[in-house]
Amino acid sequence: MSDAFRSVIAGVGGYLPERVLGNDELSLMVDTSDEWIRDRTGIRERHVAADGETTSAMAAEAGKRALAAAGVGPEDIDLIVVATATPDMTFPATAAIVQAKLGVTRGAAFDIQAVCTGFVYALSTADNFIARGQSKAALVIGAETFSRILDWSDRSTCVLFGDGAGAVVLKGVPTAEAGERGVLGSYLRSDGRYVDLLYVDGGPSSTKTVGHLRMVGNQVFRHAVRNIAEAIERVAEGASVDIADVDWFVPHQANQRILEAVAKRLGIDESKVVTTVSRHGNTSAASVPLALDEAVRDGRIKSGDLVLMEAMGGGLTWGAALARF
Ligand code: UT7
Repeated sequence: MSDAFRSVIAGVGGYLPERVLGNDELSLMVDTSDEWIRDRTGIRERHVAADGETTSAMAAEAGKRALAAAGVGPEDIDLIVVATATPDMTFPATAAIVQAKLGVTRGAAFDIQAVCTGFVYALSTADNFIARGQSKAALVIGAETFSRILDWSDRSTCVLFGDGAGAVVLKGVPTAEAGERGVLGSYLRSDGRYVDLLYVDGGPSSTKTVGHLRMVGNQVFRHAVRNIAEAIERVAEGASVDIADVDWFVPHQANQRILEAVAKRLGIDESKVVTTVSRHGNTSAASVPLALDEAVRDGRIKSGDLVLMEAMGGGLTWGAALARF
């Protein structure tokens, strides 16, 4: 790799709102059942933000925890990238609000909108800033309050999503000193021909409203397995890594059946797949860093481990990233 700097993952943090909404409670709200939701998705419960609890508040908390884990302070951070499809406001960027909440006073802050693929896009973007020496330490956050854009009378979508935030600190380390550590590659894709499969039916320049999430679930499902498998193969190829050498797969947590289908297709052992979907639901851009945080904190992901992250979401967008801890 010829870049001057490598982005080393120095710390990870996560935040989940206190309130847990179980399938049984949901089945009192719409015509569904715990059995249907578990069979079709693997989800048992999800966290839901409290009234007034914003995306920026959760993002800042996850960010604070990532900074503490990395042993760095707000004065060290010169870039904040927040991946979110549920910003506090149409503008400014949620990243700017997070910057103020954390007491970061220099560098740049902006949001990335790639829905569920947002964290992979944000990680890749921050990695490119670091590789060129434009950032020395970046805070990359995925944070969502999808509970605010769900149609709570639509059983085909409201049972699937949850709220939360996850964050990583990337530190620029001269490539010669980084050894094998750091972000080894990423692969990003988008295909706007499929906008209608997963979208929100409102927005500032169309309806002047926030809108609600709409999804043709079974069609998204079909694209998901193929696209995620493609992203994994491409990122591994680009980084000259054998998929069999990956220690941990940290996938976007949309549906247990998608995780299993992708693992089966690529011959990935299930014991290497980090899954949180049963407890978190689909937290969109927060799902990968939340799963990372859990696996780092419980000691599964250790220094030296090769970790593969992937996601797919509205757009359609999809992508993958490889990093050695
Ligand atoms: O994160 C971004 C990417 N998103 C995804 O990757 C999500 C991908 N899609 C999925 O995970 C699945 O397609 C779903 C979980 C959304 C749906 O599962 P499915 O096996 O594809 O079911 P389906 O949409 O084909 O619906 C099957 C049946 C329908 O009834 P009929 O038409 O067969 O009578 C639905 O009305 O299930 C019905 N249904 C429900 N029944 C009980 C849909 N939602 C529910 C529900 N409870 N909550």
